[in-house]
Amino acid sequence: MSFSAIPERKGPIPTQRSSVAAREEEPTVKKTCSLWNAISSLWGWCFKSKPDPVQEGPFCHRHRPTRVQRKVDTTFNGLKRIEGSSWGMNGSHTYDLCGIKECELLQSIIRSAPISQKDFYVMDVGAGNFALSQALEDYVNKHIRPIRPDITVHIIGVRGEKNSGPVITRIGNCVRYDVGAFKVENMEEEFRRLNLPGYGQIDLAFSAWTLRHLVDPVGTFQQVCNSLRTGTERPGFFLFDGFFFEQGDDPKVEMGNRNMIQLLIDTKCHFLMKNTFRQNSRGLNEFVLCKTTEVTLPLRYRNVKQDKDLSQVHSKCITQFTRTAPRDEILAVREIFYSEVAENLCGDKKLFDWLKTNRILRVDRYFHRELQLMSHEV
Ligand SMILES: C[S@@+](CC[C@H](N)C(=O)[O-])C[C@H]1O[C@@H](n2cnc3c(N)ncnc32)[C@H](O)[C@@H]1O
Repeated sequence: MSFSAIPERKGPIPTQRSSVAAREEEPTVKKTCSLWNAISSLWGWCFKSKPDPVQEGPFCHRHRPTRVQRKVDTTFNGLKRIEGSSWGMNGSHTYDLCGIKECELLQSIIRSAPISQKDFYVMDVGAGNFALSQALEDYVNKHIRPIRPDITVHIIGVRGEKNSGPVITRIGNCVRYDVGAFKVENMEEEFRRLNLPGYGQIDLAFSAWTLRHLVDPVGTFQQVCNSLRTGTERPGFFLFDGFFFEQGDDPKVEMGNRNMIQLLIDTKCHFLMKNTFRQNSRGLNEFVLCKTTEVTLPLRYRNVKQDKDLSQVHSKCITQFTRTAPRDEILAVREIFYSEVAENLCGDKKLFDWLKTNRILRVDRYFHRELQLMSHEV
C-alpha cells in the first residue's frame, strides 16, 4: 500500500489539552503495548505452534498438520511404554480377511515369482502377539515343499507395545522380525531408523483390527500401499479392514464404509471387498488390494478432532481431510452394486478369479455367491 492510500484523518482537531494529555499518555500506552507484545510473543513462542505450512505437492503423511502429528506422537508414546500386548483381539494364526487363506496366498506368491527373486517380504501391521508371523513361519518351513534353499521369507511383524523377547530370529527359510515400539503411523521413517529390509518390496501385507485405532489411518494406509511391490505381473497384496476418517463435506464417520469405498477407488488399484456391514452393525468391511500402481490419494489434511465416544478407536481421534478431486461420479452406482451383494465378496473379477483358481479363498463360504459376483461388473 502506498502512503497516498492512507485516508486523511477526519473529525475535530485535538485541543491543546487533549493533545498534551495524549502526549503524556503516549509513553505509558506505548510501554503497556510493548510489554504486552513482549508477553504475548513470549507466550506464543513457548506455547503455540507455528502456523502449519501450506501442504504442497501430492498427499503424504509428512505433510500432517502439527496438531495431527502431535496426536500421532502422544498416542504412540502411550503405547510404546507398555510391556507386552493385551488387546481384546491380540493376534491370531489367521485373520481370515476376505476369507483369504494367508499361508496359501504366500505360497502362490512364492511359486509364481521369477527364479531371480530370492527374498520375499511379508508384513503384519499391528501384529499383536505375533501369532500370524508364527503361523506363516511354520507353514513356509513345514509345508512349502520343495522350496529352494536360497529363498528367504522375511516376516516383519510390527506393533506399538514393546517387545522384550527376541526381535530377529532365523529359522529354516524364514527370518522373523518381531518389532515392538514401532510407530506404524510413521512407518517409512521407522523402516529407515531400524534398518528393516523390504520397504517398497513387500509382497504381502496384513492389518487386522489396527488401522481403526490410529489417529491417521489414511496416511498410514498410503504408506502401507507404497511399501508394497508394484506391478501388473507381480503386484504386492494388502489385506486389511476398515477405519474411520472424514473427507470433504461428509461427516459420517462411524459407519465408515462409504468413505472406504471411495478411498479404494482413489488408489486406482484392483481390490475386492467383503461387506460385513449387515452382519454386524459395528462391523467394518474387509478388503484385499492388489498394488498395480503407486498410490497418491487425492486428499489434503485439514484437522483432527477428538471424540471420546468412538468405541472402536483407541486414539479417540478422527482426522479430517479435504478432497482435491471430485468424488467418483459412479460411486452411487457402485454402492448399489455393493449393497446388492452385501455379506459377499465383490469387486474386481480378475482378482477374484485369480484367488479362486489358486485355491486361496475359503471356497466353502464363497462358492455359492460366485454367480452373483460374476453377474456384476465393477
Ligand atoms: C487390536 S490389536 C490387533 C492385533 C491383531 N492384528 C489381531 O487382529 O488380532 C491392535 C494392534 O495394533 C497396534 N497399534 C494400535 N495402535 C497403534 C499405534 N498408534 N502405533 C503402533 N501400533 C499400534 C497394537 O500394538 C496392536 O498390535
